[in-house]
Amino acid sequence: MPAIAVIGAQWGDEAKGKVVHLLAREAEVCVRFNGGPNAGHTVTDAYGTARLHLVPSGALHPHCLGIMGHGVVVDPWVLEQELGELRAQGRPEPRLFLSERCHLILPHHKLLEEREGTAVRLGTTRRGVGPAYTARVARLGLRLADLRFPQAVKEHLKQVASHVGGFNPEVVAEELQAFWARWAPRVGDAQAYIAQALERGERVLFEGAQGTLLDLDLGTYPYVTSSTTTVHGVGWGLGVRVELEQVVGVTKAYTTRVGEGPFPTEDRGEAGAWLREKGNEYGATTGRPRRCGWLDLVALRYAHRINRFTALALTKLDVLSGLKEIKVCVGYRLRGQAVGGFPATVQELGAVEPVYDTVPGWSEELRKARTAEDLPAAARRFIAAVEGELGVPVRWVGVGPGVDDVVEL
Ligand code: IMP
Repeated sequence: MPAIAVIGAQWGDEAKGKVVHLLAREAEVCVRFNGGPNAGHTVTDAYGTARLHLVPSGALHPHCLGIMGHGVVVDPWVLEQELGELRAQGRPEPRLFLSERCHLILPHHKLLEEREGTAVRLGTTRRGVGPAYTARVARLGLRLADLRFPQAVKEHLKQVASHVGGFNPEVVAEELQAFWARWAPRVGDAQAYIAQALERGERVLFEGAQGTLLDLDLGTYPYVTSSTTTVHGVGWGLGVRVELEQVVGVTKAYTTRVGEGPFPTEDRGEAGAWLREKGNEYGATTGRPRRCGWLDLVALRYAHRINRFTALALTKLDVLSGLKEIKVCVGYRLRGQAVGGFPATVQELGAVEPVYDTVPGWSEELRKARTAEDLPAAARRFIAAVEGELGVPVRWVGVGPGVDDVVEL
């Protein structure tokens, strides 16, 4: 597997962390290329449940180096806290290497997110991610490499504080300097590292954060995150042209969304509440209840068109056990007309009516299943229907929260 990308096919929270952790068993390097501490990749293994925000999920394996490309926005305080939590679980220290070109999330970015109202209007994760990316595009950001020049950092922060207020530039500058003293050896030219690792034939895994429908440009704008969440983020966030051998799309067997924005197959009634409780659909980063609904094949076809998945990981299939019937959205209608493609505006996407197929459910619990034969016939038919609609094979099926609760097909 020289190079594999794992990409969320929905609105994030597809259980990418678990899929990445599984594939990283055979990888030398695991790379995050987008997003920041807004991500919440959950891995449940022998040490307990790790909720990773910045650390690449593959780096929980001692053999796998975790890299953060320049597309990732790094909050130094969150990074150190996260490593502290992993240590408290008794885990080996992850080996990490960060691009010196990564932009920093600074305390005032979180202030701005509240003040500008985006936190409430979009239902963001309140981690300062949007303002850090805004500063980057506006050419007002601070990067890890800048920490080599403490005086310039202090001047920068003083300037920002005089405009924004709400934080003490001297204190922040000192904390950043202390951070740099600990981290400088692990910061450098990640672009070169990855390019060379690929040339050496090392197995590199690219771990997308958030999902295709949260992509800044291709997602449900403005209810999106501020980075490139699709497979195109690999080039965007690393600066390496990668011949990907596989692009694995990760989708739940149903759909969830956290935060505001259109969600055509949302079920605000009993079925949605049932999925939330059975699937434990509460945000890994914010604890917010996730909105829940049925699998949306229109959205998945769109995600496939963008990413050209070579395989799918269908996660949380076990959550559907016990439903007599399962609904699957196969089309949208708008004002009585069939809609081709995935609408670009929230006005249209908010008004479409999903067209559903109903397929029979199954009552058996799936947790112990490890092969296709262990799955009930109705579950196998559900998987085949998804494969048939998208024309992409399902290679992995999630049947429980643990790293080994997977059926490989
Ligand atoms: P931000 O990324 O914090 O700016 O939030 C923008 C939108 O993306 C909000 O709707 C968030 O709930 C959503 N979001 C950001 N990161 C994730 C994630 O990792 N999983 C699911 N939703 C996310």
